[in-house]
Amino acid sequence: MTRILAFESSCDETGVAIVEDGTKIIANHIISQIDIHREYGGVVPEIASRKHTEVISQMTQKVLAEHEGRIDAIAATRGPGLMGSLLVGLSFAKALAYSWNIPFVPVHHLEGHIFSVFLNDSTAEFPALALLVSGGHTSLIGCAAAHDYEILGSTRDDAVGECFDKVARLLKLSYPGGPSIQAAAETGNASAITFPRGLAKSNDLDFSYSGLKTAVLYAIRDDPGLLTNDVAASFQEAAVDVLLLKTKKALAQTRAPRLFVAGGVAANTLLRARLSEEIDVPVHMPALDLCIDNAAMIGAAAHSRFVHGMLGDISCTPEPGMTLA
Ligand code: KG4
Ligand code: ZN
Repeated sequence: MTRILAFESSCDETGVAIVEDGTKIIANHIISQIDIHREYGGVVPEIASRKHTEVISQMTQKVLAEHEGRIDAIAATRGPGLMGSLLVGLSFAKALAYSWNIPFVPVHHLEGHIFSVFLNDSTAEFPALALLVSGGHTSLIGCAAAHDYEILGSTRDDAVGECFDKVARLLKLSYPGGPSIQAAAETGNASAITFPRGLAKSNDLDFSYSGLKTAVLYAIRDDPGLLTNDVAASFQEAAVDVLLLKTKKALAQTRAPRLFVAGGVAANTLLRARLSEEIDVPVHMPALDLCIDNAAMIGAAAHSRFVHGMLGDISCTPEPGMTLA
């Protein structure tokens, strides 16, 4: 049995967790700064790093109080993310590992999202195709084995979560945009407006979401009488449609035996429902609260790295632009 104490602080959520053997959550605490950043319409990096500093020590004490026995290693997100935010979690984790004299495991944030599907799901395994949809990323990733990834397609401009956030702002809905658009769409007509499906006809597996955002801008500018809920529902339909289309194309090309879906946008109910209905290989999606940024997923990825001897040390520094493959 291996227990890892893990930290996530790449953006505006401080996460501290203890994960056993990469799958079992012993403790998992998240403090979100969403209410603080909401008034600015997005994350303010300087405020984010200060808030991480304020809470990380007490959160760690609380998490440690919830378990008995030894901790075998400490993990933290190394990148990608905001430099100041990453620095807080990574430095805290390294210092603790150094003073306890146990291994330190740096983790790529997106690898954490990929491994979030292993939490409480004993049937998930590699190889797989991963659809990673978050505020900063929209990618289809071939996962031949743990730590063996190939980016098959990515967004050429905005990420899908970023597009939800920007469209919510256009519609005067609250930040973050994903949940507020989803809520508005529930009572809207998804066929009210036909929005463009970016790169739907291209042969590659890339995405483009900036045209969709602009189409929403023009639609509400040209017809101020449009109902917000109809625009939200039509937008969500278009955004999710492209994810399905490209994922099906990637599954056909790679013949991957299963699909992992992760990242904040994986919490979207329309996306989850359509994936369950339309994808004919097993689909593994984390529970809703494990889709958004959390430290349990970092602990899950760190367990595999720990087992494979992929450790870091005290010299490890944050990498805000860290690449996965
Ligand atoms: O993975 P995450 O917590 O942070 C990043 O690594 O980016 O993802 C946050 C993103 C935000 O853009 C948010 O609007 C989106 O996930 N999101 C959703 C939903 N819940 C969160 N998008 C669509 N539908 C949702 N229910
Ligand atoms: Zn994330």
